[in-house]
Amino acid sequence: MRGYPMNQDWIFTKNDQLSYASEEIKQGEAINLPHTWNAVDGQGGDGEYYRGQCWYQRRIELSPSQLEKQLFLEIGAAGNQAKVYINGKLAGESRCGYSMIRIHLNGYVHAGSNLIAVAVDNRADNTVFPLMADFTFYGGLYREIKLIVMEDIHFDTLDYSRDGVYLQQQKLSDEAFQLTVNGTIINENGNTVDVNLKLELRDAGDGIVAEQLILLSLQQRASFTHQLIVDNPILWDGIDQPYLYQVRLSIITEGSVYDVREIAYGFRTIEVTEDRGLLLNGKAMKINGVSRHQDFGGVGNAITREHMEEDISLIMEVGANSVRLAHYQHDDYFYSLCDKKGLLVWAEIPFISVPSTEDPHNTNAIEQLEKLMKQAYNHCSIYCWGIQNEITIAVENEQTYSMLQQLADQAKRLDPYRLTAQANIYSVANDSVIHDYADISGYNLYYGWYYGELTGLGERLDAYAQARPHQPTLVSEYGVDSNPRFHSYTPKVKDYSEEYQLLFHNNALQTINERPYVLGGYVWNMFDFGSAVRDEGGEKGKNLKGLITIDRKLKKDTFYLYKAYWSKQPFIHLAGRRFQNRHEALNDIVILSNLSTFTLFRDDEVIAEIVDNEPLTVVKDVQLIKEKHLIRVEAITADGGVFRDEMILHCVAEEDKSYQYVKQAATRNVTNWFERYDLTNVKEVQLKGGHYSTFDTIAELYHNEQAKAVFKKYFGGAAEDPRFAPLKGTMSIEKMAKISAFNIPQELLALINTELNAIKK
Ligand code: GCU
Repeated sequence: MRGYPMNQDWIFTKNDQLSYASEEIKQGEAINLPHTWNAVDGQGGDGEYYRGQCWYQRRIELSPSQLEKQLFLEIGAAGNQAKVYINGKLAGESRCGYSMIRIHLNGYVHAGSNLIAVAVDNRADNTVFPLMADFTFYGGLYREIKLIVMEDIHFDTLDYSRDGVYLQQQKLSDEAFQLTVNGTIINENGNTVDVNLKLELRDAGDGIVAEQLILLSLQQRASFTHQLIVDNPILWDGIDQPYLYQVRLSIITEGSVYDVREIAYGFRTIEVTEDRGLLLNGKAMKINGVSRHQDFGGVGNAITREHMEEDISLIMEVGANSVRLAHYQHDDYFYSLCDKKGLLVWAEIPFISVPSTEDPHNTNAIEQLEKLMKQAYNHCSIYCWGIQNEITIAVENEQTYSMLQQLADQAKRLDPYRLTAQANIYSVANDSVIHDYADISGYNLYYGWYYGELTGLGERLDAYAQARPHQPTLVSEYGVDSNPRFHSYTPKVKDYSEEYQLLFHNNALQTINERPYVLGGYVWNMFDFGSAVRDEGGEKGKNLKGLITIDRKLKKDTFYLYKAYWSKQPFIHLAGRRFQNRHEALNDIVILSNLSTFTLFRDDEVIAEIVDNEPLTVVKDVQLIKEKHLIRVEAITADGGVFRDEMILHCVAEEDKSYQYVKQAATRNVTNWFERYDLTNVKEVQLKGGHYSTFDTIAELYHNEQAKAVFKKYFGGAAEDPRFAPLKGTMSIEKMAKISAFNIPQELLALINTELNAIKK
């Protein structure tokens, strides 16, 4: 299999005309891939971003000798749906916006110039996931495209898969692993041939560890399963020792090599236990995890390998040992980087927020899971397949469970050796049966941000552990938005200050670390990311929960908090450097470090000598007297290494108001909007059957003019917003009340019910 990049010289237009399947785009824009049309409007603006069907075209010149080969077009991904036309004929389609697409070109192409036209569509479609989520659904051909050239006899490349071969491993004993190789070989010309399948295992130094030759006779296709016993392999042991072997598979006949696959592969065991948490190679490992969305500032999801390398190096720098690649399939290269660096990966599909109301089987979720698994199968870093995220926002019922059962069954059928996982919204009850549908059932918990107090996190985890002592949990998400422009001496929820983010995460880290039965957590999020519908914390179109800004240029103080907890690379960092104008005379200086002995200086004067093993150290009441002070901290390690950091603080007379987040009058998130209703004497209503109530879905309320009028009285046109459309068929007012953003008090539900329940169905 040889690949030739085809990323240059494309023509793009937003002008949607079916004639572009066969006719040249006249006034298009010349672009190179990767490309998205939402790089700017998907991360800012007024909440709307362009969602439509757009066209891409490119010509490809093929010689008669090339046509004797098997030719495939490989499209890294197309967001969210695509139709691929070759010389005017529909040759392939995709409804999985994050998966790789492969199209067999022979039969569509001829010698000379051929027209490739791709219609890419990111409009809302109730049967294609994600339907609704807190991130931008960027449109475009946002990953690389290649022409793949193969001989007549080759590994099956059209089985959705990446390699056409699947590797599985099982530990047999303390001394041996079994490597199983499954796959299918295709013979395009259909005559019976005998082929040798050569299987080699090479170590990191390219030395042969094991080698086998398997004879296969095939006509059109032949499937094979082969096992190799590997004695005492060097283990892939996470970030400490991500040792990779190379599995090389070659198809050989009469001395010619037809097809070769080289797969970097590591041997490891991963278990989740009731009492010892997650075990990697038998050793307990707390999950020090971060989540990642794939997009970058100004670039959207059209990222390059350099962007991915930058992300992985930042994830390594913070010292994480695991990454949740949310909320969809990421670029294959990123999983390879995780293999190389030893990061355990939670991979997942965008079955998120709400199921389809038009397709009760959610066929698209099943298809996306199959593609994710078949394409990412051979990455040893992946330890679990995520089947849903907060899918019960609007409704949790038998249909939800049967859907999850199907997804879990499919995951186990395709891969019996890895775990399944799910991430639930906090409103899912601790004793809900939903937790049974995956090996790992995590909770996305935002106590002290969207609801409750900071202490709520520990209380909730304890309550869960009591309700389900046999199933350990993890915090599959936690975090708060912070804008590094905002600062406070008295950080509090929703002030978006860097200081509140630090406080929140320090509490979360302590809470998770203190509880051995908690597998660990995934910070939401490593990086700020595009979420066009948002307008919060002084930035439009972004979720600001990152430890690093969306352009990857600024590490917020919380980044260093994590580094202090997790990383073994010695460092020291002074927090609060962007909170430069200090109007109070006495200031607490916060030091974040994994070192334990340091000296704090104010200008040249030593103001504290500290011995402290804590990742976060506070030196209280440092007095600022001059207009400008240089605050410096220095640590000397046992082996004489010197680490220092410094910052300038200004002593000012008046509070710097630019540090305060001021809520815009017209922001979309209105707090306490219900205050215009008198809720003082509202009584519970005994609901009558056969009448409307807050338990009916909004679609049902909309069927009746009177019920619709009641809904609109309280919620205005909210249900008519296109973003709400996927929710209408499943969301009731009761369910809305469970979502903190809607801010609906119980008394208001009763008030609405007095009106709704008077209307006969
Ligand atoms: C959710 C969700 C994320 C979202 C996050 C947030 O729990 O899973 O996709 O971005 O909360 O509100 O920031």
